[in-house]
This record gives sequence, C-alpha cells and structure tokens, in this order.
Amino acid sequence: MKRFFTSLAAGAALLGLAAQAGAQGYPERPITVVVPFSAGGPTDTVTRLIAEAMSKDLGQQIVVENVGGAGGTLGAGRVADAEPDGYTLLLHHIGMATSATLYRKLAYDTLNAFEYVGLVTEVPMTILARKDFEPTDMKGLIDYVKANKDKVTVANAGIGAASHLCGMLFMSALETPLVTVPYKGTGPAMTDLLGGQVDIMCDQTTNTTKQIQAGTVKAYAVTSPARLDVLPDLPTAEEAGLAGFQVGIWHGVYAPKGTPSEITERLSKSLQLALKDENVMARFAELGTEPSSQEDATPAALKAKLENEIDRWKPVIDAAGQYAD
Ligand code: MLT
Repeated sequence: MKRFFTSLAAGAALLGLAAQAGAQGYPERPITVVVPFSAGGPTDTVTRLIAEAMSKDLGQQIVVENVGGAGGTLGAGRVADAEPDGYTLLLHHIGMATSATLYRKLAYDTLNAFEYVGLVTEVPMTILARKDFEPTDMKGLIDYVKANKDKVTVANAGIGAASHLCGMLFMSALETPLVTVPYKGTGPAMTDLLGGQVDIMCDQTTNTTKQIQAGTVKAYAVTSPARLDVLPDLPTAEEAGLAGFQVGIWHGVYAPKGTPSEITERLSKSLQLALKDENVMARFAELGTEPSSQEDATPAALKAKLENEIDRWKPVIDAAGQYAD
C-alpha cells in the first residue's frame, strides 16, 4: 500500500513539474483570446487594444476570436472547456456575473470553471436612439416609450449582455416592457440603429462615443455618476430624470480552470503593463473610459469583483423577472 501512495505522490509531483515547466517557457506560441460577442462592438474594441499591448510584452501574437451568441455565454463556455495551458483566454464583462442568475442552465459553473487574470476597465453606457427618433430629451423619450410600448424596439446583444442589462434597468425604471431585438453583439446592432431598423439601444461608450460626436445617433444620457469629458453636453441619467440609474460595465480576463498560477500571474503582469501603455490609455480616454488600476488588474481583484457582482445583481434580476431558459 505504501508503494501505491509513494507512486501517487511521485505522479502528482511529476504533473506539478510538467505544469511548472509549461509555465517556465510560457508563452511559446500564439495565444487566443475569445471575445464572446461579434467583431466591431465594445468588447471587441477593448480586447483588441489590450491584446496588441500584451502581445508586445509577451513576445507572442494574441489572436482575437469572436464567439458570439446567447449574451456572451457561448463564448464563455468555449473557454471554460478549453485546455488550461494559458493559450486560450476570455475577455468578458459584467455579463459573467449577470448570466449566473439570468440563465437557469449555463454550460459552465461561473465560479468554478475559470482562473482569474485581472480587471481591465469599467465602461459607462449611453442611452441612444436612431437619429430621426422623435423625442429630443429623456423626458420626451420616457413619455414616447410609454405611449408606444408595443411599437418601440430595443436592440441588445442577447440575455446576459451589458446592453440587455441596461435595457432591462430602463424598462424596469419606466415599468414598461418593450420589444427587444437581440444581436450577437452591439457592433451589428449599431449598424441597424444607424440604418433606422431598430429604435433604441443602451450601449457602452467604447462603441457609441464616436457616433454621438458625429451626430449619427440621438443620445439621451450617460449612465456614469458624472458627465464625460468626451461628451460634455450629454447629461447623466440622474440629471435627465432617471434617479439612481447608474451602471458601469467592468471587464475582466479569465483562463480555464486549472491553468497554472505561474501563467495567470505572468498574464496579470502583462495586463498591468498593457493598462499603462500610452496607446491604450489614449484610446480608452477617447472612448469615454479608463484603465483599471494596477491593483485591480490582479487575479484576486477580479475574483472578488465577480463574486460581489453576482450577489449584487441577483436581486435586481429576480425583481425584473427576466430569465433565459
Ligand atoms: C454587450 O454586452 O452588449 C456587449 O458588450 C456587446 C458587444 O460587445 O458587442
């Protein structure tokens, strides 16, 4: 029996050595980072900026793979099932927390299927309409939506998306359910808003700032506590009459459960460097957001954020009563 336990311990030690060996030369080949939404949307925009900066530090190409669908849960599931070798990562946002409540049957266990790398940024949202939408301010929008609730269409990126969460909060605030039009990302949703195929959308400034500045959409409010330097004329939702309507879309980088801590720590160091990269900081500022702090770009900070946000949003989602089967 003793021999059995000796060989078991030796096997475990060998496995640990193999994992460490893999970590020592890491990364030895290109890394894939999954964006759980279509190309051209806010999550894709943030990821490509971070991937470019991290790639410089890691000395390996970082390939962005868009895996859209089901409000981001398909892409998250793809990474949950990937090899825990550090070569498949996920960059996702608040939807990791809200989906844990919204979906009765998720393909993964949110708090046990991932390792953590760190937080990336927290992005404000903007409440928009197609350019020729009648209402010219938030009060007008609220009155119009209530009077035309069976007609008005709201675009989002599926149940679990940030655009879904903000739309759900908006409908709850107005006590008015609306017709929702789901997309695989707010990149394609924005195309339809610009084309007038859909009426309103709540989306992140990383996807809407340039459109608002260009006047190609109608903007009613921003969901941050204070106005944004890049959109000084856009009132906060609070100013516009939606008391307490604040939501920030935090983003994090994850790896599959079992990825060696030497690798997630190496990735966290690279993420921290990326968040101090001149181009990343400048582009984030242009798009109405800012990098997470160095302390937040750590595995422990992301783990705590995810756990706290699942608890925070569960009662809000339960009160709205919107779930995905
Ligand atoms: C969302 O949650 O709405 C996503 O951020 C949309 C996207 O990134 O395409």
